[in-house]
Amino acid sequence: DAELNKADAKRYNQMKLVKKGPFTMGTDAKLTKDGEDPERRVTLNDFYDVYEASNAEFARFVKATDYRTEAENFKNSFVLETLISEQTLSKITQQVASSPWWLPVDGADWLHPEGPDSNISKRLDHPVLHVSWNDAKAFCEWGGKRLPSEAEWEKASRGGLENRLFPWGNKLMPKGKHMVNIWQGEFPKGNSAEDGFIATCPCSFEPNKLGLYNTVGNVWEWVEDWYSTRHTSDAVQRPKEGKVKVKKGGSYMCHKEFCYRYRCAARSENSPDSSSSNLGFRC
Ligand SMILES: *[C@@H]1O[C@H](CO)[C@@H](O)[C@H](O)[C@H]1NC(C)=O
Repeated sequence: DAELNKADAKRYNQMKLVKKGPFTMGTDAKLTKDGEDPERRVTLNDFYDVYEASNAEFARFVKATDYRTEAENFKNSFVLETLISEQTLSKITQQVASSPWWLPVDGADWLHPEGPDSNISKRLDHPVLHVSWNDAKAFCEWGGKRLPSEAEWEKASRGGLENRLFPWGNKLMPKGKHMVNIWQGEFPKGNSAEDGFIATCPCSFEPNKLGLYNTVGNVWEWVEDWYSTRHTSDAVQRPKEGKVKVKKGGSYMCHKEFCYRYRCAARSENSPDSSSSNLGFRC
């Protein structure tokens, strides 16, 4: 408890108001085929956004509810190969053909992000990993909160700026300064961590104008919405069903040549029961 208190004293419940009003969602820049276009005006009501849910916060939830994550029930989850210990690697026999840097690791879960021989003791203030969309939703509900809609997520990330690539503007490194936790060096061989982080980070870099940290980079973040690439003119109207859920913001694994998705408009998807070592959420 003492460790948890220390880790989340600065973070817990620090919600930031995102004021009602319109913003421009998406981009016509055609940077991906993920359905970022068209640009559209969306008007939202007031809502509150909070930081990426941390390991400490998730630990409180599990302690209070005995919740078991889907990764714990499946008994495995996906981990980036370069983060896995030799010992754990030697036990892995499967690979994902389309993305060989992802390995299914038995015993990888939120408490053991790189497999059974890893732990979160030094990362209580980092975002919780290996949580499915269903897990994220359960956490938010326990806290009397909810996942953001995709539009809410994007408006919060943009922080009041219009039509910018990133939460702070259009330049990746204004005045040579790192603003986001992404991949430097050759992907997937090794992250040279010039931004200070090989994998996840706690609330770091400059927050956006609303005081929100790490909306892009660090970890992908689940949102409430089903994924679709067809948007109606009224973007508040959301798909009523689907097979996969939207995730936003990219992660520490993103690299311009390989995954130019550490941008406000960027999006991707996963099935609601999937989990990995670069995917978390905020409420
Ligand atoms: C957690 O992992 C560190 C290495 O990262 C290790 O030194 C420590 O003993 C581990 N703690 C537990 C409780 O397993």
